[in-house]
Amino acid sequence: MSSSPSSAILQIRDLHVSFPVRGFRKEPIRVIRGVSLDIAPGETVGLVGESGSGKTTIGRAVLGLAPVTSGSITFQGKDLGQMSPRERRRSAKDIQAVFQDPYSSLNPAMTIEDILSEPLQGVDRRQGREKVRSLLESVNLPGNAGQRLAREFSGGQRQRIAIARALALSPKLIICDEPTSALDLSTQARVLDLFLEIQERTGVAYLFITHDLAVVRRMSHRIAVLFHGAVAEIGTARQISEQPEHPYTQRLLMAAPVANPLEQERRRAERRRLLDLQDQQIEQGGGNKDMWVA
Ligand SMILES: Nc1ncnc2c1ncn2[C@@H]1O[C@H](COP(=O)(O)OP(=O)(O)OP(=O)(O)O)[C@@H](O)[C@H]1O
Ligand SMILES: [Mg+2]
Repeated sequence: MSSSPSSAILQIRDLHVSFPVRGFRKEPIRVIRGVSLDIAPGETVGLVGESGSGKTTIGRAVLGLAPVTSGSITFQGKDLGQMSPRERRRSAKDIQAVFQDPYSSLNPAMTIEDILSEPLQGVDRRQGREKVRSLLESVNLPGNAGQRLAREFSGGQRQRIAIARALALSPKLIICDEPTSALDLSTQARVLDLFLEIQERTGVAYLFITHDLAVVRRMSHRIAVLFHGAVAEIGTARQISEQPEHPYTQRLLMAAPVANPLEQERRRAERRRLLDLQDQQIEQGGGNKDMWVA
């Protein structure tokens, strides 16, 4: 376990999230079960885990969009749950999000200029234009793209527009939820570079959610592995990718595709060995079966 930075911009403490289930006397499902996580200013914390492990729910809880049952989320020293609606709105501008689907997250019939100037309330028209131009340039799109409609752009370009919109209010933290998963590989690489470049330039922190270990390794300073709504392990990107401690992380690593067939075969063998070990442990009654579901 790595120690948490005390100067964290975001502190999540013992977070629990449950969703109500329809039906008489049905117990709510507990999706997040006691997650604690810190993010320092300018840091990227990667959040990985299998589908359904609760990654998106954590991001939504930070954005105030998931039903927090207990625990706290503190942003810049203030408990988000204790804030007045007004304070909450003020801090909302400092926490932005970029989601997976660049097709549904932008209104296809709006011009880029309208999309990007929407968050800029109280800015006069001329200043607004200039700001839009500089936002577009900051994500490497031509400054004159503002007059075109969102639907005229490709997936990668739309994701750049979504990033530009997230940057409009100079946030301190961006929740990135699978922001490149819908893009082809070369586009993905360029958009990831853009995220890194923006962080270098602005010092923004990222909570970087993905199921792709190669992506998370490239992007993150630290990585948290989520398993059934709890953090299975957290450490530097290097620790997690080179010496994972939790069997689930080991399995996840073995499952990540690699280009080299020999390496792939070695990993397959290692995966089989881990699975055999699991069977043995379950037979001996010593293994926790839950721990191995991947
Ligand atoms: N609004 C909701 N109502 C009920 N259950 C929900 C709701 N949102 C999420 N869940 C449940 O919470 C669990 C975690 O979902 P979540 O979307 O956070 O997982 P995830 O790790 O992001 O998965 P993926 O990798 O597929 O995106 C799932 O079992 C999901 O069905
Ligand atoms: Mg998700």
